Amino acid sequence: MNPPTPFVRPLRWTALGLVAWFSVLALPAQDASPLYTQRAPSRDGIGKIYYGREIAHFMSHEGAAWLDRPERDAEEKPELMIKGLGLRAGQIVADIGCGTGYFTWRLAREVGERGVVYGVEIQSEMLQLLDTKMRERGALNVVGVLGTPQMPNLPEAVDVVLMVDVYHELSHPAEMMEAICARLKTGGRLVFVEYRGEDPSVPIKPLHKMTEAQIKKEMADLPLEYVETVHTLPTQHMVVFRRKGRAR
Ligand SMILES: C[S@@+](CC[C@H](N)C(=O)[O-])C[C@H]1O[C@@H](n2cnc3c(N)ncnc32)[C@H](O)[C@@H]1O
Repeated sequence: MNPPTPFVRPLRWTALGLVAWFSVLALPAQDASPLYTQRAPSRDGIGKIYYGREIAHFMSHEGAAWLDRPERDAEEKPELMIKGLGLRAGQIVADIGCGTGYFTWRLAREVGERGVVYGVEIQSEMLQLLDTKMRERGALNVVGVLGTPQMPNLPEAVDVVLMVDVYHELSHPAEMMEAICARLKTGGRLVFVEYRGEDPSVPIKPLHKMTEAQIKKEMADLPLEYVETVHTLPTQHMVVFRRKGRAR
């Protein structure tokens, strides 16, 4: 058999290359972080394991009314939480996973008209609700941002990042937290508010709660230093970190 000519050979390689390329495209998307493993999902989770914890399903916009339930103020004492943040006029804040804006307008009130609050969501339906509710409240310094499961898409560096009842349901916590740290100013604060996983009397499904130890474990490799855990809220804790080094 004749050896392939130099001309035929590249064509064959081109064809092989195309087949390989389309095969790669046809593969299911892989998660970039080696920190993730997969197992059969439990009822409330997505089967993805991160630092020994199964990630919870994110809350659909179809249940948005729950976020604005009338009894929530009494149950969660949002004003106490806002006070605990110690925000200042003119600050730039990101409310990641803002939902309908239950906390967003309160943050907007604290930073005033010289400040900005970015309400970040992956569900455009939530952003529509946010827009309506912020208009009703006259919170004109709120900007809705459509993020992706990996990227918050923040347009500028921020002083404070707040995540209320969100972190445990991030499908890509490694990518999200890296991107968030890149947009947090040096010395800026990252505040997680989660239902207390240590407390069995808190009536929330286990995958939707987090312990302080688990949060600290998951932040250990990021450019963050632990500041404090605030225990003043009825069922949640506020776990506070500060950004070390330089924001991009
Ligand atoms: C349980 S709700 C909490 C909403 C709000 N923080 C509150 O306390 O009222 C969680 C929200 O996080 C959003 N979410 C989940 N993953 C997200 C991500 N990667 N980036 C931004 N939002 C996300 C969901 O769409 C959902 O609206």
